[in-house]
Amino acid sequence: MAPKIDKALLTDGGTVVRDLFDDDTMAKLLSLYEYCFEHPSPIALSQTCGEDRNYSDMLNSDPKVRELTEKALEGLPIGAMLADVWDSEHVWYLTEEIFLKKSKSNKNRGVFHQDSSFAPWEGEHWANFWISFDPVPKGNGLEILKGTHIGPQYDYVSYDPEDPSNQSKRGKPFWRDKNDPPWPAALDIEGTLAKNPAAWEVLEWGVEPGDVVVFHPHVIHGGAPTGPQFPRRRTLSLRFFGDKSYFRPIPPGGVGQTTEMHDERMRLEKERGIKRGAKMKAGDLYRGPQYLQLR
Ligand SMILES: [Fe+2]
Repeated sequence: MAPKIDKALLTDGGTVVRDLFDDDTMAKLLSLYEYCFEHPSPIALSQTCGEDRNYSDMLNSDPKVRELTEKALEGLPIGAMLADVWDSEHVWYLTEEIFLKKSKSNKNRGVFHQDSSFAPWEGEHWANFWISFDPVPKGNGLEILKGTHIGPQYDYVSYDPEDPSNQSKRGKPFWRDKNDPPWPAALDIEGTLAKNPAAWEVLEWGVEPGDVVVFHPHVIHGGAPTGPQFPRRRTLSLRFFGDKSYFRPIPPGGVGQTTEMHDERMRLEKERGIKRGAKMKAGDLYRGPQYLQLR
């Protein structure tokens, strides 16, 4: 039977697909992950503190990354699965993001956030495929607040990259009046859940290599911490979009990276001849010749 994405993606904002990728596909995806790791883009964020490591990178324009991505995606049913669950005629691949979380401390939780608070994406047809190369026990995986993908757009959550467990910036405005009207301050999800675990319905799955958590990037989500039982989590996130995807501008300026890092990323893309379409305006369909069409 052809693999399917549960309609919970549409109603809850996230779901899991079990056994989607075989060992051969996982090996190709791991090659992509490792290549990205060994050839960072200018906007990679890396923190090391003793044995603890926190690393993320995305939008890597190295041509070999594209080659490895195409090789890994070739023949996979992702386009058909997303077209089916979305009822979308077309499906495109957007980009990759890689994460490494390494700590025995139980303190390196990823802050709850919406990807749409730092990326210009709007509409129903967006999906992140969260792919882990390690068996992730329940309690150490990705946590999703059920149904929040159809809720308000909250502000970006600023956090302390040197100490992800430092929550002191939580709830403080980030974009301020750069958005008109300003987005409401991000909620203190961690604080609320600590006081009342039933305050939010948290979706979370233990996963084996080959399983994929699929979620809408507007849903409020965050990575649970790693700890003594599970000290290292290596994740590759692949992003896709379909017909109902629109450009919604976000204010200029990075969310962790410096302007110099972003300028260097743009310079490299130009140097590498990355194709770009016309500049999108607010409300435009999200499209561009650089996005690999799967359907
Ligand atoms: Fe995210």
